[in-house]
Amino acid sequence: MINDSRLPSLHSHLAWWGLRPFTSDEAYFQWQREALSPDEIATLHRQVEQKRRGSSTDEVAFYDATAHPNILPVLYSQRYDYYLAIGQRVADRLGEARSILDVGCGVGILTTFYARQYPDKAFVGIDRSPLSIARAQEQAQALGLTNVRFDCLDLDRVAPAGAYDLILATHALVQAEQDPGLPSRSWRTFERASESQPQTDFEQRTGIGPRLDCLSSLLAAEGRMILFEKTRQLARRVPLQRALAARGFGLIEQPELIRYRLVEEVADDGPFYLLGRGDSRRFRWDESPEPDEGPHFDRAKLKAGSTDSGEPLYENHWPSAQIAWEQLHAKHLLKETTKQEPDGRQLHVELGQAEEGVYLYCANTLDQRQLVLLEPASRALLAAYYQDIAASAL
Ligand SMILES: C[S@@+](CC[C@H](N)C(=O)[O-])C[C@H]1O[C@@H](n2cnc3c(N)ncnc32)[C@H](O)[C@@H]1O
Repeated sequence: MINDSRLPSLHSHLAWWGLRPFTSDEAYFQWQREALSPDEIATLHRQVEQKRRGSSTDEVAFYDATAHPNILPVLYSQRYDYYLAIGQRVADRLGEARSILDVGCGVGILTTFYARQYPDKAFVGIDRSPLSIARAQEQAQALGLTNVRFDCLDLDRVAPAGAYDLILATHALVQAEQDPGLPSRSWRTFERASESQPQTDFEQRTGIGPRLDCLSSLLAAEGRMILFEKTRQLARRVPLQRALAARGFGLIEQPELIRYRLVEEVADDGPFYLLGRGDSRRFRWDESPEPDEGPHFDRAKLKAGSTDSGEPLYENHWPSAQIAWEQLHAKHLLKETTKQEPDGRQLHVELGQAEEGVYLYCANTLDQRQLVLLEPASRALLAAYYQDIAASAL
């Protein structure tokens, strides 16, 4: 899927921007303390917190701060592995496009990489953070790039000018990370209802609908779009996919789930999409949960007889816990609670006895599942967990 031949030029591009690769948090934070003053670190932490509140003013203030020459290399070095993952994949898919729009380009680290890789293509980067755009313009000039332009523009207020063969949006269109997304029809299923109102509400709340309308109108008839957003959870993935499908976009290639490191942490953001309209659409949209790493439910292997180790006979925190729960023999319910919010969200928890043991099963409309199976003697322990979950907020 990935063409490693661009790797050396991508590493040297990131080094030119002052970014360094780190695999240890300790080494990274040591460098952060050397490169930034305590005041700069405190200000940055404050702005990260403010950005989480989700107002566009706070978000612009945060991205403006990241463009400062001291802060930029330190902060964006955390995303080094992200730039490797996305930079190579996008660069490999620019294809025949002559005019390319990079929406929410930030300080232009990736846009300038693409422009260096393809001197014969014309790039435009837009972003609503004025200081990020100022930095992008300075850096493009320092690199001697004549095939890239950066404009400061808020896509939610002003439509960019021009027509494009390809639009790139990486970590740019679905910022509303606190949004609950589109819940499933009930705690028993991963399916989403097909009614249009909850979808329209999601598109308006998160702004994704108007943004896609605007971008669609800028794209040539045979144009393509590359999209990579934080939409791993079905509750976000499904409404994003439906918003794209409603505007005529389909999959040119099977989406790839991308994982990358944020220094020591592993980020699992979800699918990388290459999209087109008309005849270029080759694959169907998939609304099922991604394959998970939950343990296989094998009744024959469940331990027989009692043990006082307290070790569960079986435990699964993945969507496949639902299949295991469905397969339990001769289930007898001891207690159950289902809570429901007016917006359709549900949480179900049940304590039961099955042939295999005593079990606790939890499921909600945001696709979380949990099954714990213990020896019958441990029923009191599971009953206590049941009370905690039944008393918790949705
Ligand atoms: C996480 S950064 C991603 C930067 C770059 N695309 C990348 O992949 O590294 C998100 C950027 O989107 C920009 N952005 C968010 N909403 C925007 C909007 N409505 N109009 C223009 N830019 C926007 C932010 O200012 C920020 O620079």
